[in-house]
Amino acid sequence: MVISIINEKGGSGKTTLAVNLSARLAEDGDNVLLIDADPQKSTEVFSDMRSQSKLEPLFSSVSKTGISLGDEIKRMKNSFDSIIVDTGGRDSKEMRKAILSSNIIIIPTIPSQYDVNVLDHMLNIYQEVTEFNSELLALILVNRVSPNPFLAKELNNLKDYINEAKKDKGLEKVIMLESVIYERQAYRKAVIEGKSIKEFCDSNDKALKDFEGFYQEFLKIVNEKIGA
Ligand SMILES: Nc1ncnc2c1ncn2[C@@H]1O[C@H](COP(=O)(O)OP(=O)(O)OP(=O)(O)O)[C@@H](O)[C@H]1O
Ligand SMILES: [Mg+2]
Repeated sequence: MVISIINEKGGSGKTTLAVNLSARLAEDGDNVLLIDADPQKSTEVFSDMRSQSKLEPLFSSVSKTGISLGDEIKRMKNSFDSIIVDTGGRDSKEMRKAILSSNIIIIPTIPSQYDVNVLDHMLNIYQEVTEFNSELLALILVNRVSPNPFLAKELNNLKDYINEAKKDKGLEKVIMLESVIYERQAYRKAVIEGKSIKEFCDSNDKALKDFEGFYQEFLKIVNEKIGA
């Protein structure tokens, strides 16, 4: 299974999600490869810190940019249970190749008006790619949500927007995830320490509960739609 984390909007939490999803799948026993397809090589912070802290690697990782990304994914596909691809914060050849080569794309989205405009562009790209990759699932994950209850309206606006766009564009395989990830310090700190969210958090930590909610929903969709 190949899962790419996509959003041309910078800072929406792609790298943080790519690292945590790779770690979580590995903690469940998957043999995981994280491909860093961002020229900025942002996932190195995690791997380097992990190595410096003498923690065992949870998953394999490799940096791969350029148009050969698609070939690399194809070559690695049979050697791993899961391949996670982290892409950069702009529309790039790597992003397009990653989408083309995936079973699932996850689009982490911050619920503000500006992001919604970018999201529309992402959905158009998704629609173009489905001409070549018709089974591709797209999961929209509302990410970095402010815990301030006064901002709940923004979240609902985003959900309404996606549901409308799905209907208008006929995007049956776009799924708006029920679970939401909030803005919490633990996500930032865990990556900097080279730890998975599970390793970093206490068992009753809200960040861990959020992430687990997302992960279980993700697994359910994978089982139902992909049968992996
Ligand atoms: N749920 C969260 N709560 C708090 N901070 C977060 C969360 N997710 C990500 N961050 C922080 O937000 C910043 C941007 O996150 P990240 O680097 O994962 O985004 P990105 O989409 O990969 O960015 P880019 O487009 O530049 O690659 C980082 O400082 C990260 O630690
Ligand atoms: Mg990144």
